[in-house]
Parts: sequence; C-alpha cells; structure tokens
Amino acid sequence: MGDILTVKNLTTHYTTPDGPAEAAGDVSFTVKKGEMLGLIGESGCGKSTIASSILRLIEYPGKIVSGEVILDGIDLIRAKDKELEKIRWKDIAVIPQSAMNSLNPVYTVGDQIIESILLHEDVTKKEALERTKNLLELVGIDKGRWKSYPHEFSGGMKQRVAIAMALSCNPKLIISDESTTGLDVLTQAQVIALMKDLQERLDLSIIMISHDLPLVTSICDRIAIMYAGKIIEWASTKEILEDARHPYSQGLLNATPDLLNPDKEVTSIPGSVPNLVHPPSGCRFRDRCQFVMESCAEKIPPLLEIKEGHHVACILEEGDDNE
Ligand SMILES: Nc1ncnc2c1ncn2[C@@H]1O[C@H](COP(=O)(O)OP(=O)(O)OP(=O)(O)O)[C@@H](O)[C@H]1O
Ligand code: SF4
Ligand SMILES: [Mg+2]
Repeated sequence: MGDILTVKNLTTHYTTPDGPAEAAGDVSFTVKKGEMLGLIGESGCGKSTIASSILRLIEYPGKIVSGEVILDGIDLIRAKDKELEKIRWKDIAVIPQSAMNSLNPVYTVGDQIIESILLHEDVTKKEALERTKNLLELVGIDKGRWKSYPHEFSGGMKQRVAIAMALSCNPKLIISDESTTGLDVLTQAQVIALMKDLQERLDLSIIMISHDLPLVTSICDRIAIMYAGKIIEWASTKEILEDARHPYSQGLLNATPDLLNPDKEVTSIPGSVPNLVHPPSGCRFRDRCQFVMESCAEKIPPLLEIKEGHHVACILEEGDDNE
C-alpha cells in the first residue's frame, strides 16, 4: 500500500498573551491508501490542530509555522488558495468535532448535501439529488428522508448525515475528528461499524481522531499517539497493544478497562497535559513519567524507528549512550 498523505515536520502555534503555544510540534506521519490511522491522546494534545493544519484551516490566533503536508505530490501548506479549494472536500473531507450539531436547522438534510455537491462539482441539481439519495442509502438512511430536517433525526442519524456529506464528492481521505463523541455507546458502535464498512468498500483512507483508545484499537490499522503537541509513539495497532514502549502509551493502556479481563487493575495517569506555552524542558511527559531521569530534561526525544514501522520518542529507547 502506497502513502496517500505525508505529514512532515508540521509545526503549528497559537498566539497567546503569554507567548506562542506549540499545539503541534514537528509532527510527522503518513497515511496509506485504504488505511485507517488512529490519532489519539488526551484533550488538549493537539489532535484537532493537526486536522485543521492538514487542510490549512487554521485561523488566527493559530499559525502554521513550518512543515509539509503532501497529498499526491502537492504540498498543501504551499499550494495556492484556488488549488487548495479544489482539494478540500473533493480529495480530503473533514467530519469536524461537532459535526452533528453543525447541520443547519432551517434546511433539509438533503438540501445541505446537494448544496455541498453543487459547490464543488459541475453537476446538475437533479444529478446532485440522485447522488444525495444514494449517499443516504450508503450510510443506512432511507433515501426518502432527504426531505427531513435535522431536528427530525436522532444524534446517530445526524452523524450518518455528516458522514454522507463528507463522502459527497468521493474523497480519497476523510479526517474524522471525534465524530462519535456525545453519542450513546450503542449508536457510537453502529457509526464506527459504518465507517469501517465504508472504508473497506470504498477503499478510503481515514484519519480517526479520538481520545478513546478501545475505540481506536478496535478499528484502526495503525495508531499515532500524541502528547502535548508531539507524536510520542506511532506503530501498527498490534504493536501498540502488544509492545507499547512509551510510558505515556503504557499509561493510556493501563487506564483502559479490558472486557475480556475484568480482573485487570485499571490505573489512571496522574497529573495533566502541561501548558503548551511553557511546557517542561526536554520530554514534555516528564512531570508525569514514572521512569523519569535527569537527562529527560535535556532535550526533546526525537521520534525514532525502533523496529520496522514502530516509532517511539523516549530516551529509554535511544540506547545505552543516553542512560
Ligand atoms: N484558539 C486557540 N488559542 C490558543 N490556544 C489554542 C487555541 N486552540 C487550541 N489551543 C491550544 O492548543 C492545544 C491543542 O488544542 P487541540 O484543540 O488541537 O487539542 P485536541 O487534542 O483536539 O483536544 P480535544 O480532545 O479536547 O479536542 C491546547 O492546549 C489548546 O489550549
Ligand atoms: S524521555 Fe524520560 S520522561 Fe520522557 S517518557 Fe521517556 S523516560 Fe519518561
Ligand atoms: Mg479536538
């Protein structure tokens, strides 16, 4: 499987009265064709900042400081506005963090999908309506419901509409930002199953942003774990589950109950994500790390490939020279 997206050394700051907050710092990862990549971390770690930076939708006080985002050979950070407009929605679509609440209450769901198709593609209204009906069926909604208003739909159905909208121009990549948060557990499972099914049927690539580790491990091929603006571990889901190396990743796994092993002791990670304006020097996790050493304060550990496809940013993985 080739890479469809390459994010290289992406750095995004927010200007604050106390100085810049580095919400994404030197972030690098790739997404393969047909892959579902999980992007996970606690609240405030920079997940949505990455989603917005990929499509250059960062607004003041945010600013992309450096880096590259390559899609089909085009660097989206440097692309002309017009070029980027064509790529947004048509090549990459985002299901934003509050997608189901972002539907306009005064238009029918069908009209909203039609509108997004007409905005991006040169088709007739009749063709757009046909496609809208097919899209609704694809996400498990009766096509006759295109005339319904958002308030006539449950939360889960509104989320399905948001997915249909994201699919409306046949994108290659979908970025789903916490798209099931706020739904009850059963509906959440249905929406996730739908996304997995669509990913496989349409050979889509998906970046699944979530703070929910069990959800991500249940459906993603690879997982990138973020902490305080940095990717600290990135590997296949199997590797993360069987051989997580970063103390933060291990902490997230230990904080997750295991349905198959009800006797497992669940322990949360003490402390919280640091302020990103003045993060700790060196490793940003060191205030919470049970393995912290003096040298952890000296430099930010680089993300190193410790075995094929398994990347970790921790001094413990850098070899004896650093201990
Ligand atoms: N407009 C802003 N101004 C200043 N700081 C911001 C702004 N937006 C985000 N940040 C900071 O950037 C950091 C990353 O925020 P981001 O929303 O990307 O995190 P997240 O991982 O998506 O969190 P969540 O899980 O809560 O959605 C946070 O520390 C946040 O305080
Ligand atoms: S670099 Fe040090 S503080 Fe950071 S995770 Fe590794 S051991 Fe812990
Ligand atoms: Mg977010």
